[in-house]
Amino acid sequence: MTNIPSHNRRFVLKTRPAELPSNENFSIERLPVFPPTDGNLLVRILCVALSPWQNQRLKDFKNYTKPFEIGELIDCDVIGQIISGEAGDFCPGKLVTGRLGWQEIASASPADLQLVSNDFEETLWLTALSSPGLTAYCAMDLFGRPMPGQTLAVTSAAGSVGSFAIQLGVIAGMRVIGIAGTKEKCDIVRDELGAHACLNYKDPLFSEKLASACPGGIDLFFDTLGGEIADTVFDNLAKYATVLIVGRTNSNNSGTPHLDYVNMRQLWAKEARIHCFSRYSYPERWAFAREKMMTLCRDVKIKEIKTIVHGFENTPTALRDMLSGKALGKTIVKYGESER
Ligand SMILES: NC(=O)c1ccc[n+]([C@@H]2O[C@H](COP(=O)([O-])OP(=O)(O)OC[C@H]3O[C@@H](n4cnc5c(N)ncnc54)[C@H](OP(=O)(O)O)[C@@H]3O)[C@@H](O)[C@H]2O)c1
Repeated sequence: MTNIPSHNRRFVLKTRPAELPSNENFSIERLPVFPPTDGNLLVRILCVALSPWQNQRLKDFKNYTKPFEIGELIDCDVIGQIISGEAGDFCPGKLVTGRLGWQEIASASPADLQLVSNDFEETLWLTALSSPGLTAYCAMDLFGRPMPGQTLAVTSAAGSVGSFAIQLGVIAGMRVIGIAGTKEKCDIVRDELGAHACLNYKDPLFSEKLASACPGGIDLFFDTLGGEIADTVFDNLAKYATVLIVGRTNSNNSGTPHLDYVNMRQLWAKEARIHCFSRYSYPERWAFAREKMMTLCRDVKIKEIKTIVHGFENTPTALRDMLSGKALGKTIVKYGESER
């Protein structure tokens, strides 16, 4: 096992972005690393998972999440390797996952970590078996109630959460329509994830194409975006449709996060039901959802799509690229390789 490094580098918030974040919004702090005390463990971070909620928390607006403070470490799920300290099954060399943030070395309590079993590819612990897969599973299971033959529409269909919602809909026997921002993404959603169709919302004929892709209307809308694209989907809802609100990437990324849906009339006209979903409200469902996703991964019924970026310094740019639609699936930034 490696010696304990003398210093840790970590990204903290310097200024709040107006819309998308860039390098200038963050500063790198260099802090000494001390041997672990009080039963804590030292973890070397190998890869970090980027998510739109990080941009949401960089800004300060009324929301269910707490904004990062200026000077606060940017939080996120990571995979790391224990380099010092021991507690039960947690010992040097073991891989763990937890919310340790954009830093190279973390001191963490075993209670905040989970051991990563090597039955699965490492990155699955940040995708299918973590927030993206479990959010899609819980939202669909608890509120989507997918039925064979129904039509499902999913925004950010080649995104981290959306790609799992697409696959869960296909497994349930639904007619699945993806919506994404490039032709390449649409091809992957259709050809690799099994959607019946995937439409590019930047296509000037998007509205017409969506209407002809779902002649019987959309029974279930898994919305990660809000805004104008969701308004177009509302024009195509079936009677008594369900709208599952899972994310607000569109308004989060804008300078006006308080503005969102406009086309409320169609919700009323179709007597649609809206379910707002936050995974934080269902901790008791987490283990069940993870077991189900593990089985789907083992049986190769579900797959992850991801973009890997290398280097600690590139984390802010990778976040910006992900938010602006340049990445496919989950963006994971690799800070190092595990040591045997
Ligand atoms: N409710 C919960 O418990 C929960 C849990 C996890 C995540 N979420 C939320 O779910 C959403 C998706 O998260 P994720 O991690 O899966 O992110 P993601 O979809 O992988 O990444 C964001 C994607 O959004 C699209 N996008 C960005 N700005 C857009 C705009 N203005 N208009 C249209 N599309 C835009 C881009 O894809 P295109 O190329 O398609 O434009 C981009 O790749 C986020 O809002 C996140 O906060 C909620």
